[in-house]
Amino acid sequence: TRAVLIDCDPGIDDMMALLTACASPELELRGVTTVGGNVGIERTTRNARAVLALAGRGDVPVAAGARRSLVRGVTRHDSAHGDDGLGGIDLPAPGGRADPRPAAEFLAAAVAASAEPVTLFAVGPLTNVALFYAAYPDVAATLDRLVVMGGSIGPGNITPAAEFNVWFDPEAAYRVLAEPEVAVPTTLVPLDVTRRTGLDEGDLDRLAAAGPIGDHAARALRGYRHGAGPAIPVHDAVAVLSVLHPELMTVRPAAVDVETGLGPGRGATLVDLRADPATAPTVDVVVDADSRAVVAALLDRVTRLDRP
Ligand code: BDR
Ligand code: CA
Repeated sequence: TRAVLIDCDPGIDDMMALLTACASPELELRGVTTVGGNVGIERTTRNARAVLALAGRGDVPVAAGARRSLVRGVTRHDSAHGDDGLGGIDLPAPGGRADPRPAAEFLAAAVAASAEPVTLFAVGPLTNVALFYAAYPDVAATLDRLVVMGGSIGPGNITPAAEFNVWFDPEAAYRVLAEPEVAVPTTLVPLDVTRRTGLDEGDLDRLAAAGPIGDHAARALRGYRHGAGPAIPVHDAVAVLSVLHPELMTVRPAAVDVETGLGPGRGATLVDLRADPATAPTVDVVVDADSRAVVAALLDRVTRLDRP
């Protein structure tokens, strides 16, 4: 099994990432940290705890992190996920286990305490990860891998140029992806791939029929105002599935830069697939995926939660 931590801002697709991790015996979920993003930090934290409790994993500690971005505070949240961040399903709270430490401190302690190298998934704005790298570089350097859902090679979603997670905190993304102070093997799962990996009506029906957990997930997904086409994307879950099913992904090394200027390009990622990993620091970018097979793997896994 692989020791994992998930930093997230649930978020409907964050919920799917958490459920996928909980449903995967290959992964040992050691903790979850939350960041403000899709909704405010109180809500993302409450949602993370409620989703873990729903999945029968109320034992997993949840530590709250940054309520705002590093430099220019973004106050506009992503209403695509509804006021409650979960498409209106409003899971009962309190659930799950709160850890009193700030996210960066929790991440450092969990990574330092692990006997084996840890994989960190970051599926919200990168604020907590940037703070973790800056405050605990020696601990961060022992990570097995950082897997980020964020950025785009082509157009964005929140602006024409920018993907939501990077747009929300471009300075943090810059410090994690463009000029990291720690050399951590990093995978980027960008919007180009995740927006094409979605659940259609038949998939949602199958999920809903699995039992109460699948039904909650399907209802949340149906409340996702994503604007990406007929199928409902599960961006953050694709990041988790990229580790579980590398055979379904096409990965290329690329240098990644982040636009931190204040103009209309703020938060854009520049993914340079021409970069030579022998001479430049690169990130492993998922440039393509077998979307139908990824969705099938997601359904196989998440529906297992309803038949323990
Ligand atoms: C990303 O932005 C958020 O709204 C989603 O949860 C996902 O992490 C997609 O751009
Ligand atoms: Ca997210």
